[in-house]
Parts: sequence; C-alpha cells; structure tokens
Amino acid sequence: MKKIWFIAAAVAAIGAYGSAQAAGDAAAGKAKSATCAACHGADGNSAAPNFPKLAGQGESYLLKQLKDFKSGARKDPTMTGMVAPLNEQDMENLAAYFASQKVSGGEADPKLVAEGQKVYRGGNPATGVPACIGCHGPTGAGNPAAHFPQLSHQHAAYVVKQLKDFRDGKRSNDAGQMMRNIASRMTDKEIAAVASYVQGLH
Ligand code: HEC
Ligand code: HEC
Repeated sequence: MKKIWFIAAAVAAIGAYGSAQAAGDAAAGKAKSATCAACHGADGNSAAPNFPKLAGQGESYLLKQLKDFKSGARKDPTMTGMVAPLNEQDMENLAAYFASQKVSGGEADPKLVAEGQKVYRGGNPATGVPACIGCHGPTGAGNPAAHFPQLSHQHAAYVVKQLKDFRDGKRSNDAGQMMRNIASRMTDKEIAAVASYVQGLH
C-alpha cells in the first residue's frame, strides 16, 4: 500500500513539473503533425470515433499524454510507435499546435441525454461516483492548469474506451488514481450515457 501511495505522489509531482514546462512552438508543431493527421485530423478534429480529438485540448495535458506514451506509463500499441521518434521539444511543439486548434462536431444521442446529464452534473451519490463537472467543468472545457482534460465534443466511442480502461486498470496514468477510483464505481450504462452526453457538450 505504501508503495502505491509513493508512486501516486511521484506521478503527481511529475505532472506538476510537466505543466510548468509546457511552452511549445505551435508553428513548429504544425510542421511535425503530418503523420498525426492521418488519424487525428489535420486540425486535430479526427473523423473516426476511435481516434481522439486533440483540437483545443489542454497543452499540458497533451504533453503529459505524449510523455506517458513514451515512458510506457500509458500503453497503446499505435501511440507507442508514434512517439518513439519524437524528442521532448517535438512533443512540446505538437502539444502547443493541437492545443491552439478549435474542437468541433459531435452530438449527444437524444435517448441518452437525461441519464448522461445526471451523471455528468450530479454523479451517482448511491455508488459514490462524483460529478464530472467538478473537474471537467460545466461545458466540458476541463482545467488546463490542473491537467483536467477537455471532454467537450470528444468522440463517445473513445470516451467509453477510456472509462473502461480506467475501470479495468488498463489505463493507469491518472495522478492519485483519480479516474480509476471514479470509473471503478460506474456501470456500463452510466459510461455509455455520460460518453454520449460529453460528445454533445460544449
Ligand atoms: C494510426 C493512428 C494514429 C496516429 C498516426 C497517431 N495517433 Fe495519437 N492516438 C491514436 C489512438 C488510437 C489513440 C487512443 C489510444 C487509447 O485508446 O488510449 C491516440 C491517442 C493520442 C493522444 C491522447 C489523447 C487524449 O485525449 O488522451 C495524443 C495526445 C495523441 N494520440 C497524439 C498524437 C500525435 C502528436 C501524433 C503524431 C505524432 C499521433 N497521435 C499519431 C492513434 C493515432
Ligand atoms: C477529481 C477530478 C476528476 C473528476 C471528478 C472526474 N475526472 Fe475525469 N479526469 C481527471 C483527470 C486528472 C484526468 C486525466 C488523467 C491523466 O492525466 O491521464 C481525467 C481524464 C478523463 C478522461 C480521459 C480523457 C482523454 O482525453 O483521454 C475521461 C474520458 C474522463 N476523465 C471522464 C470523466 C467522467 C465521465 C467523470 C464523471 C463520472 C470524470 N471524468 C470525473 C479528473 C477527474
């Protein structure tokens, strides 16, 4: 148990360091982004629902994810290959570029809005799921300074996969186990509803 807390504290410390360092060159990032465009879209608004939108995402969050793919703290076979040739400066520049774009598109499934909104705005007090709004904000814009990512307009299929990955511990790069503790209390139905809701949130 002690060891786990130590690792969580270390991850949090690295996160804070990362945010202080986020100062990339967006123009240089754009020049490097051609390979990324195939999946994430030229402006970071991906078409396919399994590829996350990067447009308008917090710069420090993007940089943290790239570094986590590089270190193996976040595992994905595709992205591990993508970050392999990138150095620290490249990652800072790419984060700055995608953060400077505007996220767009996406609608909620009308059948899931009521349930999704309930979870997003109020959580589930009976099972201890906290309201998402507390960290991800009323419009899903997130909180860049705190590394809380933007969720607005994000593809529902990608959001479902992330929540299930946090729930199963397949994604474990969240400081202090913040998202693992939340997702582990969520049902498939709540995950599907809230994911659809954030896709249409802005
Ligand atoms: C072949 C498709 C593909 C290419 C090319 C690609 N990515 Fe990705 N990327 C993915 C997938 C799939 C994921 C989601 C992984 C998961 O499910 O956790 C992802 C996730 C990410 C994330 C995390 C987003 C989030 O919201 O947490 C970032 C950041 C990212 N990619 C940046 C890049 C950059 C920068 C490049 C170019 C150097 C790039 N990607 C190239 C497929 C790709
Ligand atoms: C206590 C703050 C907090 C609360 C409450 C919270 N989150 Fe998060 N969430 C985070 C943090 C921090 C991360 C980023 C983890 C990392 O650094 O990789 C995150 C990441 C995510 C991601 C991954 C985003 C991406 O682009 O890959 C999703 C999806 C998500 N949260 C959904 C939710 C939902 C749905 C709820 C409500 C049920 C919720 N979160 C409640 C802090 C929070």
